[in-house]
Amino acid sequence: MSHSDFDFTAMKNKRVLISGGLGFIGSNIAQRCVALGAKVTILDACIEPYGWNHANIEEVRNDVRVIKGDVRNRGLLFELVPGQDFVFHMAAQVGREISIEQPEFDTEINCIGTLNVLEAIRQHNTGAKIVFAGSRGQIGEPVYMPVDENHPQNPTDVYGINKMAGEQYVLLYNKIYGFPAVSLRLNNVYGPRCQMHAGFYGILNWFMANAMQDKVITVYGDGQQTRDYVYISDVVDAFVRVALSDAANGEIYFVGSGVETVFLDMVKTVIASVGKGEYKHIPFPKTREAIDIKKFVVTYQKLHDAVGWQPQTDLKTGVQMTADFYQKRLQKYQRNS
Ligand SMILES: NC(=O)c1ccc[n+]([C@@H]2O[C@H](COP(=O)([O-])OP(=O)(O)OC[C@H]3O[C@@H](n4cnc5c(N)ncnc54)[C@H](O)[C@@H]3O)[C@@H](O)[C@H]2O)c1
Repeated sequence: MSHSDFDFTAMKNKRVLISGGLGFIGSNIAQRCVALGAKVTILDACIEPYGWNHANIEEVRNDVRVIKGDVRNRGLLFELVPGQDFVFHMAAQVGREISIEQPEFDTEINCIGTLNVLEAIRQHNTGAKIVFAGSRGQIGEPVYMPVDENHPQNPTDVYGINKMAGEQYVLLYNKIYGFPAVSLRLNNVYGPRCQMHAGFYGILNWFMANAMQDKVITVYGDGQQTRDYVYISDVVDAFVRVALSDAANGEIYFVGSGVETVFLDMVKTVIASVGKGEYKHIPFPKTREAIDIKKFVVTYQKLHDAVGWQPQTDLKTGVQMTADFYQKRLQKYQRNS
């Protein structure tokens, strides 16, 4: 299947629940599902310091239902899951260092929270399909590249371990109970609606905020580590495609650009897009150094073969579109700074 052949019309009138839907990826999925004619419910606990932001859904505020609530509350999920066609499970504790400092907290949200969503589907609506947000953090330091879905998982933090467990729960429930389920392992996602108030994740967007506010960007070490940066609209496209495709049921897929980018080159691209900004190198903090990955890039071949997906936006273009988005809205994304 070629990229443009995919038929998205089946999303019309579908009922969609997005946990973590006020956050970066969830809100972009919400915007896309509304545009496709779906009936969207957002569930978000609005926990600090994560990416929830009412500005993320201002264009579709009158078209979506927003429930403030927590995936750790199983009873609430029992109320919300019945009647849904799709559950995009984005809610997560997303900080790698936080996961190490507070392992139980990470486990409660990323493992028990995921089990709660699965139990709600099992007990109240086995017709619903769950699409889970997995992570490159499940892999750890690659033993070969490009990383594919057969690569062993050796996470370097509690977040990665719990994402791995969450994914396994999703696949297990699919096997035992037969309801449709998919896991997308995301790489470094960037773009419009990512939080800009903290640098502990979403580093590209954080650096962009620094450049826009004349703050010096700090690069740990020599900045020669590599990453696979993928633009948000491509990621959303992957989520909607696997949701609508029966062939994806019971599968895991990497979502990445397939391009290995040197960290420092990403920084320079950000500065060029903003039109100002400077960076300096500083030593790695100890905890970060212990968990930092040196090289990373994936192949998206499996996803392409299944649903025709391929990234449409290269780094330079995506970073420029991100800068254009925030030029007018940075203030709305600065609540904790
Ligand atoms: N952004 C990336 O580069 C990336 C990479 C790999 C995986 N992911 C995964 O994608 C998903 C979305 O991440 P994001 O970048 O949009 O982060 P985000 O912080 O912007 O969004 C996460 C949202 O989840 C909400 N949330 C947190 N705990 C909750 C709970 N217990 N109950 C209900 N809501 C809760 C937060 O308030 C926030 O709005 C996460 O599962 C994350 O692990 C993201």
